[in-house]
Amino acid sequence: NKRISIAIDGPAAAGKSTVAKIVAEKLTYVYIDTGAMYRALTYKALQKGARLDSEAHLIDILNDTSIELQPGEKGQKVLLDGVEVTNDIRSSEVTNQVSYVAVHELVRKEMVKRQQEFAVDGGVVMDGRDIGTHVLPNAEVKVFLLASVEERAQRRHTENIQKGFPSDLEKLKEEIAARDKIDSEREVAPLKKADDAVEIDTTSLTIVDVVGKIMDLALERI
Ligand code: C5P
Repeated sequence: NKRISIAIDGPAAAGKSTVAKIVAEKLTYVYIDTGAMYRALTYKALQKGARLDSEAHLIDILNDTSIELQPGEKGQKVLLDGVEVTNDIRSSEVTNQVSYVAVHELVRKEMVKRQQEFAVDGGVVMDGRDIGTHVLPNAEVKVFLLASVEERAQRRHTENIQKGFPSDLEKLKEEIAARDKIDSEREVAPLKKADDAVEIDTTSLTIVDVVGKIMDLALERI
């Protein structure tokens, strides 16, 4: 069996990580959440009080930063300089600032290099915004997941409430739309469907449906 690469891109909160994790488990592949890498850098930069519009400062920090993604009991574990930050990087502060860090060309160049190193041997499911277009342009399977802003905000809202977190649906809608706008309009590797990616609108699909569609695409190429 060939160990292929599967690229899953799409806007914020489209369910990419949920389905990517399940597909990786089914194939016994490695799941790589590239958003977690941008989040980890953002978290560290905020802690250091760095200006997020300073590319030079951010790249200095990144060059001195180790980010490890490890399989954990509840999905992926994220280690920043050896310390677990899995939950810290999901704070609303990081979520609302990360897109400003991800606009910088040199930051992206270094992140893409690290992501490509994770994928050299294939057998990966990688999710993000530019995986099909830039990180793994030769991925055997490319998927672009879509859902309306309302649907994505509603899913995140339900998830927050289940976890006992405070949650404001209207605010979530605004934040998701704002993040998509910055990610889509940036100059370097914007959020965009690769020409050869298969678009899946998940608005009225279940997780099982979406996983099934991606597995069908994968099994055709393995
Ligand atoms: O996937 P997640 O929502 O955790 O990603 C957080 C942010 O990281 C995105 O909104 C985007 O600004 C950035 N990102 C990116 N390229 C990727 C993955 C994430 O620019 N491949």
